[in-house]
Amino acid sequence: MAQHPRRVLAHLTDDHTSLVVVGDGGMPAIAYWGAALGNDDIDAALFERPVPGGGLDTDAPFGIIAEAARGWAGRPGIEGCRSDGSDGAPIVEHRSSQHDRWSFHAELVDPIAQLGFTVSISLGVGGVISIDARVTNFGEEVYRLSRLRLGLPVGRHADEVLTFGGRHNNEFGRHQATWGRQAVVVENRRGRTSHERSPSVMVGTSGFSEQRGEVWAAHLAWSGNYELIADGVTDGRRVIQAGEVLELGEVDLAASETYVAPTLHLAYSSSGLGGVSDAFHSFIRARPSHPAGPRPIHLNTWEAVYFDHDLNRLRALADRAAQVGVERFVLDDGWFGSRRDDTSGLGDWWVSPEAWPTGLAPLIEHVRALGMEFGLWFEPEMVNPDSDLFREHPDWVIGDLRYEPPLGRHQLVLDLGRADVRDYLFSAIDAVVSTHDIAYIKWDHNRDLVHAASGRGAGVHRQTLGVYELIDRIRVAHPSIEIESCASGGGRADLGILARTDRVWTSDTMDPLDRHRIHRGFSVLFPPELMGAHIGAPLTHTTLRRHRDGFRAGAALFGSFGIEWDLLRLDDEGLERVRRMVDMHRRYRDLLHHGRTVRIDRPHDGTDAHGVIAADGSAAVVLVSRLDSDVTHHAAPLRVPGLPGDRVYHVSVDTDLGEPLGWSRHQPAWTTNGVTATGRHLEHVGLQLPIMHPESSLLLVIKERS
Ligand code: DGJ
Repeated sequence: MAQHPRRVLAHLTDDHTSLVVVGDGGMPAIAYWGAALGNDDIDAALFERPVPGGGLDTDAPFGIIAEAARGWAGRPGIEGCRSDGSDGAPIVEHRSSQHDRWSFHAELVDPIAQLGFTVSISLGVGGVISIDARVTNFGEEVYRLSRLRLGLPVGRHADEVLTFGGRHNNEFGRHQATWGRQAVVVENRRGRTSHERSPSVMVGTSGFSEQRGEVWAAHLAWSGNYELIADGVTDGRRVIQAGEVLELGEVDLAASETYVAPTLHLAYSSSGLGGVSDAFHSFIRARPSHPAGPRPIHLNTWEAVYFDHDLNRLRALADRAAQVGVERFVLDDGWFGSRRDDTSGLGDWWVSPEAWPTGLAPLIEHVRALGMEFGLWFEPEMVNPDSDLFREHPDWVIGDLRYEPPLGRHQLVLDLGRADVRDYLFSAIDAVVSTHDIAYIKWDHNRDLVHAASGRGAGVHRQTLGVYELIDRIRVAHPSIEIESCASGGGRADLGILARTDRVWTSDTMDPLDRHRIHRGFSVLFPPELMGAHIGAPLTHTTLRRHRDGFRAGAALFGSFGIEWDLLRLDDEGLERVRRMVDMHRRYRDLLHHGRTVRIDRPHDGTDAHGVIAADGSAAVVLVSRLDSDVTHHAAPLRVPGLPGDRVYHVSVDTDLGEPLGWSRHQPAWTTNGVTATGRHLEHVGLQLPIMHPESSLLLVIKERS
């Protein structure tokens, strides 16, 4: 194909970010993504690179779907071929494109390989850039697709990389490392978003932190298998690429069939990870589907009763929940089929006459009469071999049925790539929610997909689209029902599932020490109103650590708050303490769930601090926690960045958290009487912190003085 000189095709920009798209008659490329530029700052000649000796005679372009056949020596944008191995390295011609300040759309064709591509880019609220792409097979013969990767360059001066992940009960850990001449790959093959590897990668300048450094952040909105790559090894460019991991045979495009890639979301920040959070939180909050109204305060029955469902006990628990101010009572696992423990019943979504001889109505009516909403647990994608559903439809499970599929928590996965399976699940869930007063579904997913084959072919792609379709159908049929994404805690948190759910169950651990770290990682992308965070029992069963009420409540306070604790074990004094904490959350809920999240950079002194600042700068709350003992008595002063410098604030401690201060001869007077300080003082000097016990928290309330 004839190549033309590169020219600027589009400049997407707001006050903060610019993205420059260039083209030479082939696949468009992103020449620049970073701080905002003016149109006068942009000229295609400025992006031209020299061509060194010892290589190709031209500078290989790095297109949004990178073309190996034009010399791109990193991972190609497309991998696939026909049955004879041909058409594996297409080169496209630019057919048409449109753009304005906020969007760019291009149609590309390879007439030789008979493949068509579209690439669409939009610049949305908060400066978040979203890239979508699709490929269509215009040939007669099947095209076997195994990757469609979207790619773009980041600043050449980015030299650290941050990824997120952990394990069950310890999700969203942050792993920041030097990014030299290597490719850092986040690759997930667990069939769900996973606890281990979140679909995000962020690169930035040396030592980037909450408040410092330039950061380029990428997140793939997908709940199946994926890879995100920060590649620093190719040819002087430093790039991010991302796409779905497709096994061979997973997407075989017949004539005229199209594959749609998951959306890649991007944010650039010149002010550290805080700027990434500002961007993503604003973007997420501006979605029409973002949950509206105050996030109801939950009581979830799981850790109170587990499978031991007893109407009278649960009614008594509901009484206690209402007494302390709970707004939504959620009945967890164990209400259906033969589900008396975790070995049986999944798939049989009817109310168990054995556990609930008079049905769920008496409990629901009781809960509603107490003024609370009622929520119910489902795990629709799963089936126990010991269930009526499996006995009737053993062929409905995902897997290659010529082999024995491995069990996970005694269960198998249903093949949601099949329309009949989705129809069954829709009817079963619809029957329960249509006949009961249900405001909320906790949608669980408790095992990885292993050897996931739909029919004989790999099936995670179809499974992921299948679950999306099922949830969408339920939402259309029951638009007022909210849905929580749970996967053994935080195993399914991404903007694909969050396009159709209202909250994430962040982790199965309620241990406040772990929760501090988990929330810090979760909150980089997702705003706190999506973060399910409950106060558990004093002794956390996942870690066998014991913590005071205030420390546990503090860890949960900023999220979509709730209780995961058998309140029937509490005496009047204990209940009163819980009531005060519930009240405290309600007091700040509006600010917490609409303001700017600020995770504060701290020196390594064993403390953690984070807060939320009202959009108009008139108020803030900050939680300071001593997570560990330190070698010196004096923690570093608490600096609170982000308050308007010349405004004057009153700072005080909310004593309802009830945390005792550490032993000392004298604590700063502000801890009892409050203090007045300007935003500038709070940002640059900071407050002297009191001596605090390890594993305790202090809630600071900052209000502008009128
Ligand atoms: C795993 C979830 O994360 C828990 O909260 C609980 O719902 C159990 N499943 C129930 O089986």
